[in-house]
Amino acid sequence: MRVTLLSVLAAAGHVTAFAQDEGLAGNLVYRSPYQNIPELGHEIQSIARRLTKRSNGVSGDYVKDITFTHNVASGDPDHESVILWTRATPKEGTYSKSHSVCVTYSVATDDKFKKIVKDGHAVTTADVDFTVKVEAKGLKPFTTYYYKFANCKASKQESSVGRTKTVPAPNSKVPADLKFAVFSCSNFPFGYFNAYGIPARQQKMDYVLHLGDYIYEYAGDGDYGNVTATGRYQQPEKIIATLEDYRLRYGTYRSDPDLAYAHAQYPWYVIWDDHEVADNTWKDGSAHQNDTELGVWFEKRKGGAVQAYFEWMPIRQVDKKDPLRIFRSFNLGNRADLILLDTRQYDRDITDMYYNTAAIKAIAKDPTRSLMGPIQEKWLMDELKKSAKQKTKWRIIGQQLEFNRLDYSAAQPGRDGVYDQLAKLKLGNNIVLAGDVHSIWAWDLVDDRNFAGYDAKSGEGSWGAEFVGTAVTSPSPYASVNATSRAFGEKLLVGSNPALKWTEVTWRGYYLLNVGEKSVKADYWGVKNITYRNDQETWLASFSIDDGANHLKRPFNVSTGAAEQL
Ligand SMILES: *[C@@H]1O[C@H](CO)[C@@H](O)[C@H](O)[C@H]1NC(C)=O
Ligand SMILES: *[C@@H]1O[C@H](CO)[C@@H](O)[C@H](O)[C@H]1NC(C)=O
Ligand SMILES: *[C@@H]1O[C@H](CO)[C@@H](O)[C@H](O)[C@H]1NC(C)=O
Ligand SMILES: *[C@@H]1O[C@H](CO)[C@@H](O)[C@H](O)[C@H]1NC(C)=O
Ligand SMILES: *[C@@H]1O[C@H](CO)[C@@H](O)[C@H](O)[C@H]1NC(C)=O
Ligand SMILES: [Fe+2]
Repeated sequence: MRVTLLSVLAAAGHVTAFAQDEGLAGNLVYRSPYQNIPELGHEIQSIARRLTKRSNGVSGDYVKDITFTHNVASGDPDHESVILWTRATPKEGTYSKSHSVCVTYSVATDDKFKKIVKDGHAVTTADVDFTVKVEAKGLKPFTTYYYKFANCKASKQESSVGRTKTVPAPNSKVPADLKFAVFSCSNFPFGYFNAYGIPARQQKMDYVLHLGDYIYEYAGDGDYGNVTATGRYQQPEKIIATLEDYRLRYGTYRSDPDLAYAHAQYPWYVIWDDHEVADNTWKDGSAHQNDTELGVWFEKRKGGAVQAYFEWMPIRQVDKKDPLRIFRSFNLGNRADLILLDTRQYDRDITDMYYNTAAIKAIAKDPTRSLMGPIQEKWLMDELKKSAKQKTKWRIIGQQLEFNRLDYSAAQPGRDGVYDQLAKLKLGNNIVLAGDVHSIWAWDLVDDRNFAGYDAKSGEGSWGAEFVGTAVTSPSPYASVNATSRAFGEKLLVGSNPALKWTEVTWRGYYLLNVGEKSVKADYWGVKNITYRNDQETWLASFSIDDGANHLKRPFNVSTGAAEQL
């Protein structure tokens, strides 16, 4: 029998001694993303019954000694709430399915916790890898908060203190610039996560945006990773395919101190790309898996990958009935609408699987082809319409694939549809963000069906700008090419693409996106060496776009010679 949350809460009276089910229901991880889906979802009431059974040799009480193994994190802030995350395991020794951990959480306006504005508790078990996710509600807009977790059974056993920040109230006037650090493609065995730690320690941002490839599924040592160079062994040391594998992999990544610090200090907005499941995924497979390879059928693998993602990432589930949906939006006052898309896992048609490259190219313009799927496409059109109607200044569209380039040509009608909608709404001030390509690109946002109407010199005819970030650590697609050839290739690309203003394929790093009232600015930073932990970075280039201009501002602030310094 499936039980609803209401029946669970109604039954709570019968187990008041421990109120296990209330604490379980308070932990969002049990209820997302697969609530009420057999096999993948959790039955809170039966877990509660299992825990309180005295015959199994445990007292039914919570574990007394616990460890916060992976620090704290927060995410998806809106104007009145934020998701808080931690992981709390029984300390040392063996634990079984009978063990449950209870944690309290508190949210305060000061880091000494003198002014606590919110508290509560939640229970976690091995069923969810001892992860904890709660939504702290009733907060004030655009305000910094501090939070921590503690053991219900021993309040001195505390997590470290996290810091987070809500966003401005819907459509309100925003008193300051909104600052984002934007990341993508962070591969653990390829290098140290200096790109996370440097801007975090320098307090360069308010919020973090991760555009995907937060983990990689490969084995690592020699299989898309260079452990010889970095010493960064990961768990498990094989291609990951099961729920347990994905959990262990997240655990390895989050053991990186720079990543852990950046999570504790800033709220993150995250979307996945392909590697959170596997390489070049489409809705029913990946370039390395058609169906049953790796001893697990693809749907099962994807189910486990998605479950581990929801366990480990501070993400909200926006539609209880749609477990795969991570496309969502946040209104950041009258300054910006943050629109986050999923062009990979949700409903993408079959893509380049390496054996079918020519066939995919041949059908790219077929109007039935889609990266987002019809449900998400319709949602995006509605979001743009809503944003136009409420006259939000900027649209920040965070997604995976380079919008201006060939990736979208795998399903061009989706891109055309976005331009058609912008034209219909006469809606400018659009900033598209992308990752995925492990290299930097800065573009005017030009409908490639209408290049005749675009003036590359003035920017006339563009709908905004696109900023593509390089990888945190994943290698450049041109890593095997020498510096001279790389520079030659960069010049060739800029020379042959009128809308492309700059590309840089050497540096690893990140960019800062400053969303102001009068302009949006992107500052690209490169990290100097990822083979060990360090704080060295170099400014690479800056681009800005003024309100109403709809194209990158001329001249471009690009530091020449930065690449040669490597
Ligand atoms: C791994 O790193 C080592 C040391 O930096 C280097 O010599 C080697 O070529 C790298 N291997 C690969 C496959 O990139
Ligand atoms: C998937 O199927 C195609 C077509 O039969 C084949 O060429 C490819 O090698 C298969 N991929 C894997 C990972 O088995
Ligand atoms: C760089 O690579 C290109 C193409 O392989 C080659 O022609 C050129 O001589 C190389 N330049 C240097 C400085 O090694
Ligand atoms: C990075 O640092 C290591 C260790 O100090 C050094 O061997 C390597 O040459 C450096 N790499 C670069 C690109 O500077
Ligand atoms: C270019 O941008 C950098 C980094 O934001 C800034 O320090 C520098 O002053 C800018 N230079 C010009 C000419 O605008
Ligand atoms: Fe990547």
